[in-house]
Amino acid sequence: MEAFALHVSRGKVEAFEALGIDIVLGRREGPFFWDAFDDRRFFNCHCNGGVFNLGHRNPEILATLRAAIDRDEIDVGNHHLVSGWKAELGTRLAATTADRCSGVVLSPSGSEAVEVAIKTTRAVSGRGGVVSVHGAYHGHTALAAMAADAQYHAPFRLALPGFTHVTYDDLPAMERAIDDDTAAVVLETVPATLGMPLPGDGYLAGVQAICRERGAFFVLDEVQTGLGRSGRMWCYEHDGVEPDVVVTGKGLGGGIYPIAATLMTPEVHAFYDEHPFVHVSSYGGSDLGCAIALEVLDLVEAPGFLDRVEDVGLRLEKELAPIGCEVRRRGLFMGLKWPDDGAGILAAKACIDAGVFTVFANNDTSVMQLLPPLILTDDQVDELAAAVVRALS
Ligand SMILES: Cc1ncc(COP(=O)(O)O)c(C=O)c1O
Repeated sequence: MEAFALHVSRGKVEAFEALGIDIVLGRREGPFFWDAFDDRRFFNCHCNGGVFNLGHRNPEILATLRAAIDRDEIDVGNHHLVSGWKAELGTRLAATTADRCSGVVLSPSGSEAVEVAIKTTRAVSGRGGVVSVHGAYHGHTALAAMAADAQYHAPFRLALPGFTHVTYDDLPAMERAIDDDTAAVVLETVPATLGMPLPGDGYLAGVQAICRERGAFFVLDEVQTGLGRSGRMWCYEHDGVEPDVVVTGKGLGGGIYPIAATLMTPEVHAFYDEHPFVHVSSYGGSDLGCAIALEVLDLVEAPGFLDRVEDVGLRLEKELAPIGCEVRRRGLFMGLKWPDDGAGILAAKACIDAGVFTVFANNDTSVMQLLPPLILTDDQVDELAAAVVRALS
């Protein structure tokens, strides 16, 4: 604790101390982790926003990692050279969009993948504008932070031109904001940090229609909502829309190796045919990361996996009914909402004390996020629901 405070973050140590949360991550397995000192067990219902979609140290991911590193044709690779690993992952990611977004740029993190989306749509459109929503979260690199809520860029004196924020789920506001200098609209399919408010009927389709009419690209950030979390491969499939760019990350690395991707239509991706070396990343799409991501796709695309996510989500929602709060849910992308600001903070603290690790939604503190791993057994669902109901009733 002392060394962490001294060298990594005193602010974090003090903040957690103030909340009475003294967890040091120790052993981890499946949906659980244990405190390093007193071995308290926690259900991980934060999952780092989806990093642990497949649980901690998923045995199939570990087996893939072990097998991969024993091959003499794998390490990080070279970001300039052609790579069979990258080709295979690109092919598989493209197929998740039925080849609509068939061009793939690989990155080490979600923020960088958002950065690629913004840079590329600006380059291709020849326009500078980016419209996003207040309360959004897209990561911490400069363009991603600009697209996110002001609290993530203002303290850093980032005030890059061209960025406009409107209220989420307000189509007329979006319509007013998109003009003939708008390169892209960037939205989380369901904004996690804003408390998982599901888009109103026709909102995303409406935004897409305005984008098409005015020549702006429609970018969906699926870093949290994607890769099966919502019960579909991509959460936007629930809304019947067809984005021009899809951003993914977190779960793509199977909780083991960082990798993220920006999937784009041939029209957008054509930029890299002309400028193949203006955007590269030493660790972006490392060959080892590709091997892990391919295993992640195998697991998420296995027959029955996505249906099981929806079934578990439904079962959990039913079992949580005695709490009496609003449940916002798509698959296992869940938020519990109360009328009062701050209620999500108290709820998260009560859950943590009861052995269920959750966080509140930073940009709507009336909401507690509930993001269990997607691999729960029925018994684990029942145990989790009982613990949450006990903590929150
Ligand atoms: C919706 C969304 N986009 C982008 C990011 C940034 O991803 P990373 O932390 O891997 O840079 C996050 C991270 O929490 C996120 O939730």
